Amino acid sequence: MQLLKDDVVLITGGGSGLGLGIARYCQAEGAQVVIADISASKVAQLQQEFGPETLVLQCDVTRLTDLKACREAILQRHGRLNALIGAQGIFDGNVPLMQMPPERLDSLFDEVFHVNVKGYMLSARIFGDLLQASYGAIVLTLSTAAYAADGGGAAYTASKGAIRSLVNQLAFEFSPHVRVNGVAPAGIANSQLQGPKSLGLDGQKQSDIPKDAFLSMFRSLSLLQELPTPEDHGPIYGFLASKQNKIMTGQTIVADQGLLNRAVLQSLH
Ligand SMILES: NC(=O)c1ccc[n+]([C@@H]2O[C@H](COP(=O)([O-])OP(=O)(O)OC[C@H]3O[C@@H](n4cnc5c(N)ncnc54)[C@H](O)[C@@H]3O)[C@@H](O)[C@H]2O)c1
Repeated sequence: MQLLKDDVVLITGGGSGLGLGIARYCQAEGAQVVIADISASKVAQLQQEFGPETLVLQCDVTRLTDLKACREAILQRHGRLNALIGAQGIFDGNVPLMQMPPERLDSLFDEVFHVNVKGYMLSARIFGDLLQASYGAIVLTLSTAAYAADGGGAAYTASKGAIRSLVNQLAFEFSPHVRVNGVAPAGIANSQLQGPKSLGLDGQKQSDIPKDAFLSMFRSLSLLQELPTPEDHGPIYGFLASKQNKIMTGQTIVADQGLLNRAVLQSLH
């Protein structure tokens, strides 16, 4: 039996990296996926890959009007929604707080929190009633940065910690009909995670880091030695989005290859 047979699953930030891998997995598990992303070029590319039957929408999750248009398109095409998976995010460039020009901090905070936190909150608000009606699920994306230092700078880390609390609160508010959970990945292969405009770092992507350097850094820290692909995360997200999850709500799965299970007395390699 397919895990998500006939479920309508919206993946926000599904244009590349993690969200795209999840979308591919959900479709393979029988879901009718809807992919929403801010990037017009990614949307055009994905429409080719997923075909005309799949709704692929340009949507900035920080804008209410975009989310409302996305909701209308979903209702017109499918008439329902069974799961919302939030995968969008931006990085903060990993700049230490004291090296950041104070006058840039204001806009950096707004930029990172708008995408990483407000986007999830607005999406939950706009699609919440559809998910209540379908006894559906919400799955949001954190990072190991929500649990331990040095997974990003102060803005990214704080934004991921905020999502962890948002999962707790939404699970409470949306109960008993909607299950709300989070996933906290560590490193992800093929990620195009972008830096912030406010620091002039929006031209930088995680995929710019040489693959070998990123892999060896990750291997030196994690117990399981493979850098997971976006598709590797699919089963965790797919399960939490599916009706098979009858037990978990208000929790976050730390999907970190054993990264945090270390007291770091010796290096692995
Ligand atoms: N890359 C990693 O190593 C890593 C580790 C832990 C957690 N994460 C988290 O995983 C998630 C996915 O990141 P990724 O690494 O796949 O990066 P990615 O850049 O490949 O994917 C993120 C997607 O979100 C989209 N997006 C950005 N702003 C948006 C907006 N306002 N509205 C709609 N879409 C928007 C981007 O266009 C992109 O397609 C993020 O939340 C990130 O913080 C990534």
